[in-house]
Amino acid sequence: MTACKPLSILIRNLNIHNTIKIDLNFDPFFKNQETISFNLVTKLIISLRPLFLKANLFGKDVHKSGNPIIPEAMGIISGAVFIITMFIFIPIFFYKILLYETIFPYAPFIEFLAGLLSICCMLLLGFADDVLNLKWRYKLILPTLASLPLLMVYMININSTLIIIPRPLQQLFGARIDIGVFYYLYMGMLAVFCTNSINILSGINGLEVGQSLLIAFSILIFNIIEFYGSYWKNHLFSISFIIPYIFTTSAIFKFNIYPSSIFVGDTFCYYSGMLFAVIAILGHFSKTVLLFFLPQIFNFIFSIPQLFHLIPCPRHRMPCFDNEADNLLLSYSEFKKIQLTYIGSIILKICHSLGFVEKTEYTKDNEIYIKCSNMTLNILVLKLLGPMHEKKLLIILMIIQSGCSLMAFIIRYPLAKIFY
Ligand code: UD1
Ligand code: MG
Repeated sequence: MTACKPLSILIRNLNIHNTIKIDLNFDPFFKNQETISFNLVTKLIISLRPLFLKANLFGKDVHKSGNPIIPEAMGIISGAVFIITMFIFIPIFFYKILLYETIFPYAPFIEFLAGLLSICCMLLLGFADDVLNLKWRYKLILPTLASLPLLMVYMININSTLIIIPRPLQQLFGARIDIGVFYYLYMGMLAVFCTNSINILSGINGLEVGQSLLIAFSILIFNIIEFYGSYWKNHLFSISFIIPYIFTTSAIFKFNIYPSSIFVGDTFCYYSGMLFAVIAILGHFSKTVLLFFLPQIFNFIFSIPQLFHLIPCPRHRMPCFDNEADNLLLSYSEFKKIQLTYIGSIILKICHSLGFVEKTEYTKDNEIYIKCSNMTLNILVLKLLGPMHEKKLLIILMIIQSGCSLMAFIIRYPLAKIFY
């Protein structure tokens, strides 16, 4: 938390653009907002943990000996504190603007409210998923519905569906193309992707929260760099969401990192994903946000054959646990060969020859069976580097996430300047 403090002080004292005349330091809430929200999440987690267990909201930690019971869906706490922080922030912030500006900025005000509405919806739907264990098809429908308020505001306030064509292709297609309704389709799909991609890169202590925090930090750094440019208003919008998110999430990370004393559940994955989608869409930098999702994009593409049942997919794909050595091992999908689709068999062959999956065939009761390692980034790391401790796997995955963010900045700045 202390590491983030200088950043928030910097944001509160932004006077780079003379248009911002509001000195938020005068306000006791703004002055202590981070400390209040961080401490509130911490206190609520400690005091509400027994209530979650009493309400049967718990999961088994499958990577510890004896599979201890851990309270589940506790992302609802950091999510609720985040929403409350924003509910207090918005009236104070806009009231102060009202004091200094003659024309009230209705458009940004509506964007704030619509963004919060979508995040709020996803928090509720994620909690419903944790309680009811919804089927996979609902996991695709729910974020689409929750993104509708966002898309409506985009249509009313912005309605720009132009995309800039990279320089090498401009002779063929021109400098810009208006893709109309497809742009809205893209934004809806972005919301579905952001929510689900965090949820499927999970299954080891601290991974859901760790990756979300790193993505949030990358977005914040990008916002601070871009705040000096002409689109500073979009980045101020993003910063207002991302700072409270970083503080509330850091508090929950303390409890979720190895060895976890709480699980954050789908509640956390969904509302975090929607928050990133809101920032990407209304902040107009969705391509850059997607660059920060490189490990999630890889994990999603690698998972497609199992997600779309081209290759049979077990209910859980997290690594297996070797109790004796306290290490994580590959987990597998086992099925009859006739269950494998034609496309699935080709994909499996390619992935096997590339060394991405382990595959064996055996015969039982005159039937040929296939056993292949699950197609996730976690399992791939274990396949390439061998069995390892849960904490080590988390550190490696966090290094991959940070490395990808670094690559994203290289693509976004030196490389993009060549193409755009
Ligand atoms: C997604 C993944 C699933 C993975 C699961 C684990 C897909 C399609 N789905 O399913 O493969 O197994 O997440 O998060 O890829 N758990 C631990 N340790 C942890 C975190 C979770 O043991 O650090 C276990 C607990 O038993 C917990 C359960 O995973 O109760 C949570 O699973 P859930 O979030 O319900 O799974 P899905 O999101 O549906
Ligand atoms: Mg989950």
